[in-house]
Amino acid sequence: MTKPKILVTRKIPQTFIDQLETIGEVKMWDETYEAMPRDQFLEEVKDAAACFITLSEQIDEEVYETATQLKIVANMAVGYDNIDVEGAQTHDIVITNTPDVLTETTAELGVTLMLTVARRIVESEHYVQDGKWQSWGPYLFAGKDLHHSRVGIFGMGDIGRGVARRLQGFNTSIMYHNRSRHLESEQTYGTLYVTFETLLKESDFIICTAPLTNETRHKFNREAFSMMKSDAIFINIGRGAVVDEEALIEAIDQQQIAGCGLDVLQEEPIAMDHPLLKYPNVVITPHIGSASVETRNRMIQLCVDNIEAVLSDNEPLTPVK
Ligand code: GLV
Repeated sequence: MTKPKILVTRKIPQTFIDQLETIGEVKMWDETYEAMPRDQFLEEVKDAAACFITLSEQIDEEVYETATQLKIVANMAVGYDNIDVEGAQTHDIVITNTPDVLTETTAELGVTLMLTVARRIVESEHYVQDGKWQSWGPYLFAGKDLHHSRVGIFGMGDIGRGVARRLQGFNTSIMYHNRSRHLESEQTYGTLYVTFETLLKESDFIICTAPLTNETRHKFNREAFSMMKSDAIFINIGRGAVVDEEALIEAIDQQQIAGCGLDVLQEEPIAMDHPLLKYPNVVITPHIGSASVETRNRMIQLCVDNIEAVLSDNEPLTPVK
C-alpha cells in the first residue's frame, strides 16, 4: 500500500521529518524563510493526505476543491485566520493549531515591546551605533514608566493572561476588554473588566493580543486612536488587521499617541516604503511573538503529533472547532 503524502510547506529540522516519515511520504518545501509559491502549493497539495502549513498559506475553497485526499491541515500557529474553518468542516478536513505551547513566549514579547517602546531602546541603540553619544544628559532618551501605570489588555485569552501575569511584577493596574469576562483573571491578577471605550480612554499602555475575527477586524480605527491618551503606547501582538493601519499612521503622525510596538502587520512582510518605518517611536518586529527555539520546536512537534494522530485514525490533539 502506498504511504499517504504529507506536504510540509517550510524546511523544518530532519528530526521532525523522520517522525513524519514513519507514517507517510514527506514532500517538504526546501526553504526556511520563504513561503512556497501558491501555484506550487496547489500543485503539491492535490494528492496530499496531510499538510503542515504556516500562517503564510491561505487555506480556502480552492485548496479544498483541489486537495481531494486531504484529511488534516496542521497550522503552525495559534491564530488561524488564514484558514476557512467552515469550509474545512464541509469537506471533512481536520484543522489543528498550536495553542498553549506558545503562550508564555508570546506574552514575553508583548512585555518586551512595551518596555522597548516606553524606554526608547531602539532609538537609543541607534544613537550609540551612530556615534552620537557625546555626554550624559538629564533627559537623554527619557521615556515612560511601565511600573505603576494603567495597562489595558484587549483580548483576555491565554496570551492576554500571560501578559497580565508578567505585569504583576511591575505594580501596574490592569484593565481588560474581551468578548466575555474572565473571572479567574480578575481574581488572580486583579484585572478589571471595562468597556472598550474606557480601555481606550484610561490606559497608559494598550496591548492587543486578540485574534482576527469579523468582530475584531479594524477594531483599532480612527475613532479608537482619537480616544487614547496622547502619551499612551499601543502594542499589537495579535493580528495586523485588528488595526486600521491608515488610522494608526495618522495617530502617530499627529502625535495622538506617544508610540507603538507592532509584531504583526496588515501585510507581512512589510514593504520597505511603508510609512510606519519612518517614525522613531514605532518599533516593528517581524512576527516573532512565539520565536524562541524551544517554543518553535514545541509548535512543530504539536503539528507532527496532530498529523500522526489523524493519519492513524485517532483524535487530533488540538483541533480548531
Ligand atoms: C502567531 O501569530 C500565531 O498565531 O501563532
